Amino acid sequence: MHVARWMITMQTVPLRVGVVGLGGAGETHVKAYLQQPGVEVVAAADPAEARLGQIAASYNIKHQFTDYHDLTARDDIDIISVATPNYFHAPVAIAALENGKHVLCEKPLARSGEEAGAMVRAATAAGRVLDVAFNHRQRGDVQVLKNYINSGGLGRVYYAKASWMRRAGIPGMGGWFTNRELAGGGPMIDLGVHILDMALYLLGEPQVLSVSAATYAELGPRGRGGSAGRGDTQTLIGAGGYEVEDLATAFVRIAGGTTLLVETSWAAYRRSGDNFGVALYGTEGGAEISVQDYTPDDTLTIYTDTAGVPAEVHPRVPRGEGHNAVVRNFIETIRSGDWAAHNGQEGLVRAQIIDACYRSAVEGREISLVGGVTS
Ligand SMILES: NC(=O)c1ccc[n+]([C@@H]2O[C@H](COP(=O)([O-])OP(=O)(O)OC[C@H]3O[C@@H](n4cnc5c(N)ncnc54)[C@H](O)[C@@H]3O)[C@@H](O)[C@H]2O)c1
Repeated sequence: MHVARWMITMQTVPLRVGVVGLGGAGETHVKAYLQQPGVEVVAAADPAEARLGQIAASYNIKHQFTDYHDLTARDDIDIISVATPNYFHAPVAIAALENGKHVLCEKPLARSGEEAGAMVRAATAAGRVLDVAFNHRQRGDVQVLKNYINSGGLGRVYYAKASWMRRAGIPGMGGWFTNRELAGGGPMIDLGVHILDMALYLLGEPQVLSVSAATYAELGPRGRGGSAGRGDTQTLIGAGGYEVEDLATAFVRIAGGTTLLVETSWAAYRRSGDNFGVALYGTEGGAEISVQDYTPDDTLTIYTDTAGVPAEVHPRVPRGEGHNAVVRNFIETIRSGDWAAHNGQEGLVRAQIIDACYRSAVEGREISLVGGVTS
């Protein structure tokens, strides 16, 4: 009886949200929460006062703060979304968790495995949910392919490729994205984390054994490869030069003999535009997701044999819901009361892999990740 009453309360009491960081990602979070029944966005924090005022007015957000501590300390908030530059993910999330809030953090979970580990420990100690916004996992093509893999369509996947390559797409040249301290890295941590997540999700969260990676900074430091139109709020937190890689490649060894090749660039001399996707090679079939300039149609191809001859299947996949699905799942998890598996662990694993990639690139050797410790 007692448990039943508690569950009803969990499912009916409105959940009150605060969003920290109101750039493009933060606004996406606000919009996604507003689609959820029984969820209210009641507070927002951003040091950029004009942006704070604009978002608060557009979405009717009652409480506004320029210092996130004033938001995380409030006891009338249940949930905090973290959509700041990467530097602030750990301090904001930990402050929120220590104040008993559930946290949805933008990707990457943190700048390093060490910071991500501290966030996971804070979530576990607080007994609260820490989820990461891996929105590309919610794409229709990824979901359809995941179902196909689960039904055995590819057999055992023994080789995979995950790629996100741009011709000229350095976000906010000279802003936080290209500042090592604020971002933690370049395209590997920014885009690589999405495709790494996509690949590991499709492969069923296998254990990663080691990585061997290389990074390059050939165009960015010479002022080439910038993209126009990213948030002008970025300069508020310190303009600088170009301090991160503009291209990264990694060879990842996975338990059971599978290998994964990751490549990512913000800027490179290649065909124009922005391409991302994965390719999976299995014992019973293959599959490729290839997205050109975010075009949603015909992105999934399945390779099989039909009547003894090679065949390609182009499933008609639904669009997918991105952040809306991320936020809906996060809210459902909170309402379910079943939080133990939602402590940021998958975000931590990806942060450790990316850490190992950067270390491998510096040291020029393969880095082992066995046991979660790099060596
Ligand atoms: N999941 C996705 O597809 C996706 C897409 C874009 C960005 N992101 C992630 O979202 C985060 C933000 O990226 P963005 O593109 O919105 O950046 P942005 O630069 O457009 O916005 C960041 C905002 O955070 C604010 N900010 C800076 N310091 C702050 C602090 N201490 N407290 C509160 N707010 C602060 C800035 O003033 C700015 O308004 C990054 O971690 C990025 O990796 C994810």
